[in-house]
Amino acid sequence: MIVTTMNISDTVALVTGANRGIGRTFVEQLAAAGAKRVYAAARDTASLEPLLRDLPRTVVPLRLDVTDNASIDAAAGIASDVNLLVNNAGVVSALGPVTALADLDGARREMETNYFGLLEMTRAFAPILAKNEPSALINVLSITSIISFPRIATYSASKSAALAATRAIRAELKPKNVRVIAVMPGFVDTDMARTVEQPKVATADVVRAALRAIEDGTEDVYPGEQAQTLLGAFFNDHKALERELAGT
Ligand SMILES: NC(=O)c1ccc[n+]([C@@H]2O[C@H](COP(=O)([O-])OP(=O)(O)OC[C@H]3O[C@@H](n4cnc5c(N)ncnc54)[C@H](OP(=O)(O)O)[C@@H]3O)[C@@H](O)[C@H]2O)c1
Repeated sequence: MIVTTMNISDTVALVTGANRGIGRTFVEQLAAAGAKRVYAAARDTASLEPLLRDLPRTVVPLRLDVTDNASIDAAAGIASDVNLLVNNAGVVSALGPVTALADLDGARREMETNYFGLLEMTRAFAPILAKNEPSALINVLSITSIISFPRIATYSASKSAALAATRAIRAELKPKNVRVIAVMPGFVDTDMARTVEQPKVATADVVRAALRAIEDGTEDVYPGEQAQTLLGAFFNDHKALERELAGT
């Protein structure tokens, strides 16, 4: 039988990039909501210590670099009971207009993490999610998946690629009873956006909206006022929005 929604208390979750920012808040909220187990995955498990100190033993540290296939396969071998995967790990490595970049190394790092990392995680965990259904896959994308910001153009491109893949993966996994949720906030108050002076949404609001989607069946989540306003402007007149964002 195809089940379209899940209860958090029935989940065994794995969160990538769990040591700080949005990922850390996912772990905290999942644990607080009574998830059976939460694998808190990070490149350096020592960086998870402050988080683990305050949380119950249902939170389990896991070493995972999403750009390293051996590390992904090892994590999939350990976390074979997962029915909620949160692809959260991400980087912004190239700042500034494309033509002003000295090289494309940062742009490649963004693609490796934000796009190929998400794909490799999905490749490794799709059979696990299907086996443990009903399941869910949450991809932490960005409003820049839909609307390109000129000063983080290559990051926007990596998040657009991830959204395109997410839509296709959703169709692919639906018959296996795995729901796929895209989370697309504007600026969020984390290290990643520390130099941004515009209003930022709190990590708690992003995660609350994402977890609500697991329970109510929403597929695309736009947490915060900035994401909602930009999405409205995009659908109203995307060329006017493009002109407005030029130079930002
Ligand atoms: N902040 C924003 O304004 C904003 C807006 C929209 C979407 N997002 C997205 O939200 C997600 C979380 O970002 P954040 O805002 O929480 O940023 P953050 O505080 O900079 O955290 C990024 C996390 O990703 C991890 N990470 C980076 N590369 C990794 C890799 N190769 N393997 C495993 N983990 C890796 C980092 O681990 P280390 O500590 O080891 O570096 C860190 O835990 C990202 O996908 C980001 O693109 C952020």
